[in-house]
Amino acid sequence: MTISSHKLTKLGLAILAASTAFADSEQPKRRPDEPLNAGFEAGNLQGWQVVHGNAFGDRSVTDLASYWGGPFHQDKKYFILGTAQAGESAVGELKSSSFRAGSALSFLVSGGYDPDNLYIGLVRDRDGRLLLKQTGINDEAFIRIVWDTKEWSGQKVHIVVHDSSTSESWGHINFDDLRLGDDALGNGHGLTFQPIGQANQPPRHKQPACSLYAKDPLRPQYHYTPYQGWINDPAGLVQWKGRHHLFSQFYPTAPFWGPMHWSHAESSDAVHWRELPVALTPKAAGPGDDSGRFTGSAMVHGDELHLVLTDYVDTRAHPGAVQENVIVASSRDGVNFTLSSRNPVIPGPPVGAPAFFRDPKVFHDPTDNSWKVVIGATNGAQGQVQLYRSESSDPFSWSHVGVMYTGDGSTDALWECPNFFPLGDKWVLFYGSKGVGWYETGNYNGSVFLSEKRGLVDAGPASYAMQWYKDESGRNLAISWMANWPTSKWPSRANGWAGQQSITRELFLRADGGLGSRPIAELDRLASGPAKRLGPLQVSDKAVTIGDTNTARLKLTIDLGATSASSLTLSLFQSRAESTLLTYNTGSQTLTLDTTNAGYGQAGKWEAVLAKPADNKLTLDIFLDRSVLEVFAGDGTVMSATVWPRYRESRGISVVGYQGTVALRAVSVTPLGSSWC
Ligand SMILES: *[C@@H]1O[C@H](CO)[C@@H](O)[C@H](O)[C@H]1NC(C)=O
Ligand SMILES: *[C@@H]1O[C@H](CO)[C@@H](O)[C@H](O)[C@H]1NC(C)=O
Repeated sequence: MTISSHKLTKLGLAILAASTAFADSEQPKRRPDEPLNAGFEAGNLQGWQVVHGNAFGDRSVTDLASYWGGPFHQDKKYFILGTAQAGESAVGELKSSSFRAGSALSFLVSGGYDPDNLYIGLVRDRDGRLLLKQTGINDEAFIRIVWDTKEWSGQKVHIVVHDSSTSESWGHINFDDLRLGDDALGNGHGLTFQPIGQANQPPRHKQPACSLYAKDPLRPQYHYTPYQGWINDPAGLVQWKGRHHLFSQFYPTAPFWGPMHWSHAESSDAVHWRELPVALTPKAAGPGDDSGRFTGSAMVHGDELHLVLTDYVDTRAHPGAVQENVIVASSRDGVNFTLSSRNPVIPGPPVGAPAFFRDPKVFHDPTDNSWKVVIGATNGAQGQVQLYRSESSDPFSWSHVGVMYTGDGSTDALWECPNFFPLGDKWVLFYGSKGVGWYETGNYNGSVFLSEKRGLVDAGPASYAMQWYKDESGRNLAISWMANWPTSKWPSRANGWAGQQSITRELFLRADGGLGSRPIAELDRLASGPAKRLGPLQVSDKAVTIGDTNTARLKLTIDLGATSASSLTLSLFQSRAESTLLTYNTGSQTLTLDTTNAGYGQAGKWEAVLAKPADNKLTLDIFLDRSVLEVFAGDGTVMSATVWPRYRESRGISVVGYQGTVALRAVSVTPLGSSWC
């Protein structure tokens, strides 16, 4: 990704013009033993030395405010932009003046992820030893890394900005605002930086997940996350012999998508998880071969648990191979999965159909008492769902029924992760396309689906590839990947991991025929203390503090009949510097999630129009988990977001009403614990 000035938006240029005024008179201040020109506010490389290469030079110091994807979020005016001197592929190293290490050190980093070739390093002068390093996260927006340097306190050290990457994509690293000692830990105005950075990631060795995961301040505590590496789609969801199984698309080596494995966890309540060994690994793949085990589903047959999944073959590495076919892996103990000798069980798409053919989801079809599977497909212009039927009720013998449903093209041409099941007196189809999860509800006669209603599975920015399953008590449950391809702000990559799964949701048919979600009852077991209750109370334009926690469940009941305000706003993950805003407009019944000033996450606004509650009582059930949130409205609307607050103090919860009063019937804040304890 090269930044070129023509990609600067008009807004970016305006910000640039406005910011030119303030910094010209700024001179670098330096206390003894501090690095010179630590934030580049001299506007040049004064105090820094080009060690080798041509990646860095005078042109590296820039005052650009924004790039193609938004603001850089540099400190003050100037910073080092790794592409500004000699482009993306140039290599080189830049070195600070020497200084004495204090107790802590922090800085801003952005740019490419490549731990070996792109990093900010702390180097000891005496022996040239690289003490700590931190790479970028494939984002141009800066995040702050905090290092504990007590171990080397008093020793002479320097910082290197190192680039030995010749890559034309994310082959650069950006740097700004080196801070030492107490200055390194906070903004100087009472706010403490989140201690982010791979060096802060606790080693896994012998630590139970519970305490290990608690130590990472960004990590959700009751949303499933990988310890290190990347996850996306939940897969293989099933309750079998009493235990819920959650598999995830997984790449263990880096916090990025790569050749797909299946991670595996199990639970007795779909709330508390226990990590199991990786269930599936890709065929031994050479470098540049992205072949892997894509998304699939579970099927219980006989005494075995079977996974029915897409085997994805990277045709760049295997020319002429079928790109996507269906395979089965089976287990007797629910831990050790073995690939079937009968693979592939579906050798590829139907004759003449495009190669895109993925994510088999098995379901039991009561219309003819058979096992069937839906598979995401396309006709080139519209999304499609292909339907197959098991000829012997096992996962090995599928015959093609036909195209079960073709979209109208408005929800894109490639459909992934289809799920299909009866709910109430309707059938529900949901699928992902272009980073959005859609549902359609309607009728089905055993071979063809007719849609009556369409909507979003989740109205927030952080949800994709939801998977449904029916538990042993007959409930329709679902878990969604709480991330999304188009909203690619993943600061946890600096801690070595990326991706989290939603809490387990129960699906139901809404009064308007749409698909609704609510949290499962077992989530009550996460409570780590008594609920704090408030209300009834009237709230006007003076904000009322409700709580101070970022790991909690917040429930509100608002009496709309007794509310005169035109809108009310809940502020979550709130400090003086940032907050996540949830606003309900009583006239339009619109719920708006605003993450414009929430933290390192995706900035934006997302809206949903809620159904008017029959009893005129609006209920909101909100799950806050350190960096992420899920909002459930009483009508079944759900909004998920990842916000990644910058400051440890961003934990406040408050409510305010505008142009009138808000009648809060009841408010409760319940502290929640960990899924791993
Ligand atoms: C896993 O199952 C296969 C097939 O039953 C068996 O050969 C293998 O030894 C098992 N591995 C472990 C670790 O139990
Ligand atoms: C289902 O409906 C389709 C479309 O109307 C029709 O072609 C098909 O024969 C029907 N199948 C059954 C089993 O009734």
